[in-house]
Amino acid sequence: MSQEYLNLPVVPADTAFGIMADFEADPHPNKVPLIAGAYRDEYGKPWILPSVRMAKERLDEPTHEYLGIAGSPTFLRLAKELVFGKSVDNGQHNIESIQTVSGTGANHLAAVFLARHLRPGRVFIPNPTWVNHKSIWESVGVTVAEYPYFSPVTQQVDIGGILEALEHAEPNDVVILQACAHNPTGVDLSKSQWMQVAEMVQRKKLFAVFDSAYQGFATGDVDGDAWAVRYFAETLSKTDDAAGICVAQSFSKNFGLYGERVGALHFIAPPNFSTQGVRGHLMAIARAEYSNPPRFGASIVETVLGDETLRAQWENDLDTMSSRIQKMRGILREELEKQTEKDWSHVETQIGMFSYTGLTKEHVTQLREDFHVYLLPSGRISVCGLNEGNVEYVARAVGEVTKV
Ligand SMILES: Cc1ncc(COP(=O)(O)O)c(C=O)c1O
Repeated sequence: MSQEYLNLPVVPADTAFGIMADFEADPHPNKVPLIAGAYRDEYGKPWILPSVRMAKERLDEPTHEYLGIAGSPTFLRLAKELVFGKSVDNGQHNIESIQTVSGTGANHLAAVFLARHLRPGRVFIPNPTWVNHKSIWESVGVTVAEYPYFSPVTQQVDIGGILEALEHAEPNDVVILQACAHNPTGVDLSKSQWMQVAEMVQRKKLFAVFDSAYQGFATGDVDGDAWAVRYFAETLSKTDDAAGICVAQSFSKNFGLYGERVGALHFIAPPNFSTQGVRGHLMAIARAEYSNPPRFGASIVETVLGDETLRAQWENDLDTMSSRIQKMRGILREELEKQTEKDWSHVETQIGMFSYTGLTKEHVTQLREDFHVYLLPSGRISVCGLNEGNVEYVARAVGEVTKV
């Protein structure tokens, strides 16, 4: 029967989106959403950044024409400067940039391009990591291997585990590195650990794909958060036989433009290689998949980044978001320590939007069933969902479920 192909196995719902739907359907008045990586203000509401609001006012009659396949040249110049710094255009880097359908689209475009042209034996992704890394690379037929990223014992980066795993990689294998504010652990490599990984990537001739979804959320300083990417780019620019680097850049979180799908992919080739061919092939993939990228969000970003006053306001907005998150971390720790008499310092020292609490799957189920507090089964919470109205309630609930 020709319709037999329709007898498909049921695909389990996406974990995070599934839990968010359950949260929405829960009528309990004290329910708390700690799932989505989307900023919420002190009243638990989505927040339009003042810099974004001001940029939209300037775009009072936005055009709805198509962008070119590679996107807006102005947006790409500013996006590139944001990742690599102002000195990027002085010619020492060999970079090709293309606008993408946000960070997910940038990761996907990199995967399609590299699977087709670099043909890596394996891609190494952190364990744990953002769930889409595995899905994206499996979808392009590359074998996914994991490197241990985090030690639950020390609550720190497992640098020994990372180096040991990458020692087994082969030339042209791909390694995915989260640039800052690691999702889901909230724990980043130190500068000296990044240097060790860079040395490994160079020595083993691996291709590094940086996923940069949280620039401005780790240290609150956009340049500080780009340190690892810039260090790798700098190292590569002096290495003739390196495989190359990509940066998948998202503007969802740092501009609060989640639904506008604003992103870019930057491809850096080793010196003495032209990126001309890369550009054409990236554009050919984009043309076949979505033809040209969304315009509106990119025009907001280029308006903000291209104007001194708006850019200063944006940096202020980043500070508003990251300092509220930091404040919530401090209060959560204090309340948890009151409730449990255990050490919860990791909740405060982790960075970015997420905290890897150490709560087990059983704790997570009980939190949801008995207290209507929703988090991922891994024990990851989005700190953005906390505010002064619910943080004490959440700590009390955690105290109850972790009682022995
Ligand atoms: C590590 C990481 N990379 C990429 C993304 C992509 O986000 P978006 O497609 O909204 O830009 C996310 C979103 O949660 C993320 O956490």
